[in-house]
Amino acid sequence: MVTGGRRGSVSDWGGMDCSPGANAESYRSLGVGHPNALPKLHRMSDRPSVAILGAGAMGEVLAGGLLRAGWDPSEISLAARREERRREVEAVTGIATSLDAVTAASGRRAVVVTVKPGDVPRLLEQVGGSITAGQVVLSLAAGVPCAIYEAALGEIPVVRAMPNTPAQIDAGVTALARGTFADEDAMDLASDVLGAVGETVILDEQLLDAVTAVSGTGPAYVFLLAEAMVEAAIREGLPWHAAETLVEQTIRGAGMLLAQLELSPARLRAQVTSPGGTTAAAIHVLEEHGFRALVEDAVRAAAQRSRELGERASGE
Ligand SMILES: NC(=O)c1ccc[n+]([C@@H]2O[C@H](COP(=O)([O-])OP(=O)(O)OC[C@H]3O[C@@H](n4cnc5c(N)ncnc54)[C@H](OP(=O)(O)O)[C@@H]3O)[C@@H](O)[C@H]2O)c1
Repeated sequence: MVTGGRRGSVSDWGGMDCSPGANAESYRSLGVGHPNALPKLHRMSDRPSVAILGAGAMGEVLAGGLLRAGWDPSEISLAARREERRREVEAVTGIATSLDAVTAASGRRAVVVTVKPGDVPRLLEQVGGSITAGQVVLSLAAGVPCAIYEAALGEIPVVRAMPNTPAQIDAGVTALARGTFADEDAMDLASDVLGAVGETVILDEQLLDAVTAVSGTGPAYVFLLAEAMVEAAIREGLPWHAAETLVEQTIRGAGMLLAQLELSPARLRAQVTSPGGTTAAAIHVLEEHGFRALVEDAVRAAAQRSRELGERASGE
C-alpha cells in the first residue's frame, strides 16, 4: 500500500550540491521543473517540525528533501557529533546545527534518528528522559528494532523506517513500521516527513528485513545490471560513452514505464517479446541460466544478513 510521498526528478543523477556554500535555495531548486516531478509542497500547518539526529549522509539527504518539499530551515534542526561536520552541514543546508542532540530534539514534533546502528545506544543514553510522548521518534537505523527505543525512552511513539538511496533525488521509497505506542497520527507524521524524499509504504516491522533486501539493497542490483549491460555493449562494439547513455536511458525509461503504466512487469515484458524475435532470444538465455533463481537467492541472502545485523544491534 503506497501511503504518501511524491515523485521527484530523475533527471539529475548528480544529486545534491554538497559543496560548501550551497544553501536552502539550491536544495529547493533541485528536482523542480522536470516533467515527471510532482512537487508536493506542504501547507504550513501540515509540516511537523523535525529534528535530525546524526548529520551524516542520510541526515543531509533528508534535510535536503525537506527543504525542497517546502520546509523552512527554521522548522528543522540537526545534531552533529563533530564541530567540523556541524559547521559544514550548517553551511550546506542553512539549518541551525547543534553538537547537543538534546538541544536539537527539544520541542520538535518529529525526532529522526540517522546515526549508524552501532551509535544508537549511545544516542539513546544522551536523549533518554528528554523525549516526550508528544514527539514521534522516527528511526532510520538499519536493523534496530522499535523495542530498543521503547526500552530506553518509555511509552514514546516510535516508527522504524527503511529508506533507499534514490531519496537523494526525491525518488526514494521508504517502508515504515509502527512501534507499540505509535498511533495513526504518528504514522501520518512519519509519512509526511519521509514523503519529502519519495514514496512511503506501511508494513509490519517483521517484514523490514525483506524490505531491506528488496528496496534498500535493490538500487545496487540495478546498478550491477547496468554495469553488465555496458560491458556487454562494449564487447558488441559500441563506444563506451554511447553504451553508457543507451543503458542509462533504457533503465530510466523502463522504470518510468513500470511506474506510469498500470501494467505488471510480466505484461510489459510480454509486450516487447515477439516469438522468434531478439528479446525472446535474450530472455531465453537469461531464463536458461537461472536468472530468477539467482535474484531470489540474492534477496534471501540480503534479508538473512539484515536479520543478523539486527540481532547484533539488539545484543542477541
Ligand atoms: N546511507 C544510506 O543509503 C542509508 C539507507 C538506509 C538507512 N540508512 C541508515 O541511516 C543511518 C545513517 O547512515 P549514513 O550513511 O548517513 O551514516 P553516516 O554518514 O555515518 O552518518 C551518521 C552521522 O551520525 C553522526 N553521529 C553519530 N553519533 C551521534 C550522536 N550521538 N549525536 C549526533 N550525531 C551523531 C556521525 O558523526 P561522525 O561524523 O562523527 O561519525 C555521522 O555524521 C544508518 O543507521 C543507516 O543504517 C542509511
